[in-house]
Amino acid sequence: MTNPDEHMIIALDGPAASGKGTLAKNLAMALNFRHMDTGALYRASAYEVLQNQGDPSREDDALAGCNTLKSKILGAENLNDVLGNPDLRKDETGTAASKLAAIPAAREALKSIQIDFAHEQKQGYGGVILDGRDIGTVICPNAHLKLYIEADTEVRAKRRLKELQSKGLDVTYSAVFAEMRERDARDTQRDTAPLHAASDAIMINTSHLSEEEVLSKALSCVREIRHS
Ligand code: CDP
Repeated sequence: MTNPDEHMIIALDGPAASGKGTLAKNLAMALNFRHMDTGALYRASAYEVLQNQGDPSREDDALAGCNTLKSKILGAENLNDVLGNPDLRKDETGTAASKLAAIPAAREALKSIQIDFAHEQKQGYGGVILDGRDIGTVICPNAHLKLYIEADTEVRAKRRLKELQSKGLDVTYSAVFAEMRERDARDTQRDTAPLHAASDAIMINTSHLSEEEVLSKALSCVREIRHS
């Protein structure tokens, strides 16, 4: 395990719209760490499948989607060129991503990108933050800090509704709530790398906390590691 003062690895896991993406961005900014939104890898792979009229629940279609994404990432200047497509944030892409993410071979195909990112020390950065569903349990079991971010389902559905509406998408609360429940069930009940908190993760429930309050809790966890 690397020295956290030289290269700190932070794992953020939690369900949809729990606030982990927002926290990851704020932490990366505050600490000058690199950040990988691993959900975007699943969303982008599923998007490739949908573009080819494939079925993200089928192993061969899912693998083809992951491989197309991987070759696009290899040929890109930076990750954001491939993962910045606004269509990736649509609910239908999220649903397709969670179907693809339940397939062990697809998870395996996307593993090395995440592990390599976590362990690559880049000059000018103090560490990395990865957010997803299995970062503390599978991708970085030795992360220096593991946070499990959760929030009540109603709060999460309202946040996601606001996010989608701000992007001009025509969605209703009940549709977003139903999609979220379905995706939570699929993500927690799948056989491979289901969503759950690592035994050594610190839990933060963001239901009644502001962005700043969540960031300040996470920063105090980072300080404790640096002083231990
Ligand atoms: O943004 P949101 O939390 O709604 O979802 P996301 O993080 O973009 O992830 C989309 C889907 O990808 C999730 O529902 C999971 O099924 C899957 N995923 C996963 O299985 N493992 C990860 N490390 C990240 C995402």
